[in-house]
Amino acid sequence: MRHRTPAERPKQDTEDLIDVRNLRVSFATRRGRIHAVNGVDLTLREGESIGLVGESGSGKSVTCRALLGLLPEHATVEADAIRFSGTDVAADREGHAGVRGGTLALVGQDPIGALNPHVTVGTQIDRVLLNQGMPPTRASERTRALLEEVGIDPRRRDAYPGEFSGGMCQRIAIALALATGARILIADEPTSSLDADTGSRVARAAAIHGGTVPRFGYT
Ligand SMILES: Nc1ncnc2c1ncn2[C@@H]1O[C@H](COP(=O)(O)OP(=O)(O)OP(=O)(O)O)[C@@H](O)[C@H]1O
Ligand SMILES: [Mg+2]
Repeated sequence: MRHRTPAERPKQDTEDLIDVRNLRVSFATRRGRIHAVNGVDLTLREGESIGLVGESGSGKSVTCRALLGLLPEHATVEADAIRFSGTDVAADREGHAGVRGGTLALVGQDPIGALNPHVTVGTQIDRVLLNQGMPPTRASERTRALLEEVGIDPRRRDAYPGEFSGGMCQRIAIALALATGARILIADEPTSSLDADTGSRVARAAAIHGGTVPRFGYT
């Protein structure tokens, strides 16, 4: 994980998309309180990627779930600051949800589960775009471009998820996440269920947006 002290931080000309100071997460369990995350600092700017690396159980998933607001009730999240594009949500669970909405998208571990098996992949991506008010013609052009960007032949837009391999479904899930227009893509072990070759292709698909969509990922 990348850590920087304030003195090391380069002069800032763009706003930080994520700025987290001293993040702590603990869980109340029957055997007492478990401290899962102890004092994480991180900063993500437009166009940057961060990878979290650490041994099993070191708190990578919990850190990301805290940012996504997806931790269960028995979790206590504390921080000196959790800012999304400058808005501090550390003390405000409700506000957190609002800010998260258009900002963060998650690419999870289960590509098949992220896709609706009964709807063609093109239509699924179209719907995400149409929901944002995009006109239908532009939506289908954008869907074509997104599929191409993650390495799926856009001529297969009318195929169902079951007609693609696991790695292809994972790339389609990335296209779906990118279609939300989210400025930050959080990936929780998006390649761990894939073989090494397919995994690196998926990682490249996610990295295509390096210039435009910052990512906060961990494998
Ligand atoms: N819902 C929960 N309730 C109680 N403890 C939890 C919960 N979720 C995670 N933990 C604990 O928090 C710690 C960090 O877990 P986390 O899932 O973040 O690890 P990780 O770094 O993602 O590991 P891995 O590489 O195995 O995925 C672990 O000790 C785990 O048992
Ligand atoms: Mg994990």
